[in-house]
Amino acid sequence: MYNVLLIGNGAREHALAEAIMKSAHRPRLFSFMRANNPGIASISEKVLIGTYDDLAAINAFARECRIDFAIIGPEDPLNNGVVDSLKGIGIPSVGPTKSLARLETSKSFTRNLLKKYGIPGNPKFEVFTSMKGIEKFLDELDGIVVKPDGLTGGKGVMVQGDHFETKEEALAYCEKVLREHPCVIIDEKLEGEEYSLQCLCDGKTVVATPPVQDHKRRFVDDKGPNTGGMGSYSCEDHSLPFMDQRDVAEGLMITQKVAEAIYKETGEYYKGIMYGGFIVTKSGVKLLEYNARFGDPEAMNTLPLLKTDFVDVCRAVIEGSLDRMNIECEKKASVCKYIVPKGYGLPKDHPYAQSPSAKIEVGDVGDARLYYASVDKREDGLYMSASRAIGVVGIADNLDEAEKIAEKAVSAIKGHVDHRPDIGTKPLIEQRIRHMQQVRK
Ligand code: GLY
Repeated sequence: MYNVLLIGNGAREHALAEAIMKSAHRPRLFSFMRANNPGIASISEKVLIGTYDDLAAINAFARECRIDFAIIGPEDPLNNGVVDSLKGIGIPSVGPTKSLARLETSKSFTRNLLKKYGIPGNPKFEVFTSMKGIEKFLDELDGIVVKPDGLTGGKGVMVQGDHFETKEEALAYCEKVLREHPCVIIDEKLEGEEYSLQCLCDGKTVVATPPVQDHKRRFVDDKGPNTGGMGSYSCEDHSLPFMDQRDVAEGLMITQKVAEAIYKETGEYYKGIMYGGFIVTKSGVKLLEYNARFGDPEAMNTLPLLKTDFVDVCRAVIEGSLDRMNIECEKKASVCKYIVPKGYGLPKDHPYAQSPSAKIEVGDVGDARLYYASVDKREDGLYMSASRAIGVVGIADNLDEAEKIAEKAVSAIKGHVDHRPDIGTKPLIEQRIRHMQQVRK
C-alpha cells in the first residue's frame, strides 16, 4: 500500500487524484491544496490547505502522513522547489527539481538547451538582456513573439497580430519585460496548428501519452481573449485530424533529445512530466514551449484513458524503469469542455464580466466525467469563484460521440455559466484541417 501526496487543487489534480485512486495498489491519498477542491477532498484520506511556498508545512504534512511519494500538479510549487524540499526528507516526487523545472520556468534555458545540443524544433530566436540589438533582430522577422523569462501565469507571451501590431509596440513591450525580468526572448511567429504532447520521463526514457489540442480563446470560433484553456480534445487513433503519426513522433523525438540534453547539461535525471507545446508548420514540428507538469485541461483527456496502473507509472518515473514498462492508453476519443462563470477571462468593462459568481446546479450528466476546478461545496450546493469551475469530459469510440456526451452533460449544469460548444465539433475540426492544408501548401 502506498501513501501518495498530491499537491494542487485544480481540475487537472482532480484527474490525477482519480488516476491514483484507480490503482490496484489501493493507495491512500493525501492532498495539499491552496483552496479546497471538493472532488479531490472526497477521495483523499486527509487534506491540508496552505500556500505553495510554505515548504515547511508541506514537509510536515508529508512526514505526518508517512508519504511514499509525491506528485506535483501545478508549476508554482515546482518553481518554489517543493521537489528539492521533499527530497531533503527522503520523499521522492513525480516532478522535476527547481533547477530542472527551468524547462518551464525559463524560456531562455530551454531555447538555449535545444540550440546547444543541436536539437531540432527551435524557431528563429534570440535572448536579450538589454535593448541592444533588439530592433535589428525584429527587422529580420516576418512575425514577432515576445516572451518574458519567468513564470507569468500564461499572461506574459505577446504575439504580433494577437496582442500588438507594430514593431514599435514590440520594442515598448521588450523594454517593459526587461524592467521586470533578467532577459527577454524573441521568437519568430510561426504559422500552423498547435498540439500538446504530455510525456512521462524518468530521466532516460520518455513515453508520450496521446496528443491533445487545447482551445485557449474564450469564445466560439477562437474569438475573444486567451484564457487558461476552455477545453480540449484527443482522438482514438492517438493522433489529431490535422496531422499524422510522423508529427507526433517528431514531438516525441524532440522531447527524448531534450531529456538527454538535460542530463548532459546538469548531471541530473528529469523525473516527471515533459509537456511540449508544439506547432505543426510548413517546415515541420516546432517547439513553442515546455511545461514541467501535465496540462490543464489536457490531463483530463489523457489520464482517464490510461490503462496502465498510474501508481506503477509513478513508481517507474521515480525509479528510472520506464523502459521496462508498457504504458498503454485506450484507443478512444475524448472531449473536455470547461464550465466557466460567464465573466471568466473577460476585461472588466465587458458586459459578461459583471455577472455574479454564483451557485451552480449539476443535474444528470449521463456518461460524462466531471472534474472540479474552482468550486466551493457548501451545505446548499456548489458555488463558483471567478475561475474555471468544472471540466466536463466525454469519452467514446470517436470524437463525434465523445463531443455529444460532453455537450449533453454541459447542458445539465445550470447557473450563470458559459462554455465553448464548438470544441470537438466537426465544423471546428474541419476548419483546423483546412488551415493546416493552407499552411502546408
Ligand atoms: N493547457 C495549457 C497549460 O496547461 O498550460
